[in-house]
Amino acid sequence: MKEKEVVIKYGEYQNKEDLGVEDSKLVLSANEATNNSYAPYSDFKVGAAILLDNGEIIKGTNQENSAYPSGLCAERVAIFFANSQFPDAVIKSIAIASQTDRFESDEPISPCGSCRQVISEAENRQKSKIRVIMSGNKCVTRIVEGIENLLPFGFQEDKLKKTCR
Ligand code: THU
Repeated sequence: MKEKEVVIKYGEYQNKEDLGVEDSKLVLSANEATNNSYAPYSDFKVGAAILLDNGEIIKGTNQENSAYPSGLCAERVAIFFANSQFPDAVIKSIAIASQTDRFESDEPISPCGSCRQVISEAENRQKSKIRVIMSGNKCVTRIVEGIENLLPFGFQEDKLKKTCR
């Protein structure tokens, strides 16, 4: 077996003040959104804010359900809403933030596997990368340019193409 390495590129900002104007505005929106989360089961409130190329900021929050798998993460709520309202707009970036009283959660919030897959589909659909801004409550903000950095070897539409026999 020949071993190869996948290179993951990410940036880190130790202080919120070091973020650019656009990013810090989006992080603020994601933080604000956490207040609208419906998370009575986990008490883990997640907010996502999306910046579209038309200047709109779309917010989403996690929506839980007593039948647990029926709930949805903040990122997917925001992306699906953005794509429903503005199907032709390009998603430039998505900021994610969290809030909970139940435990310490200082690390930047990182999208789950299903949300990574949905971000990947959005990138392919719009043919451009999405900046993912993972905001931590106390410490660092982590940023990647494009979902490939969080989802290497992702499953994409081209894998479904069939050759004629
Ligand atoms: N959650 C999100 O909304 N986004 C993530 O990236 C991770 C997890 C939600 C799902 C569930 O409502 C709660 O956080 C606890 O997992």
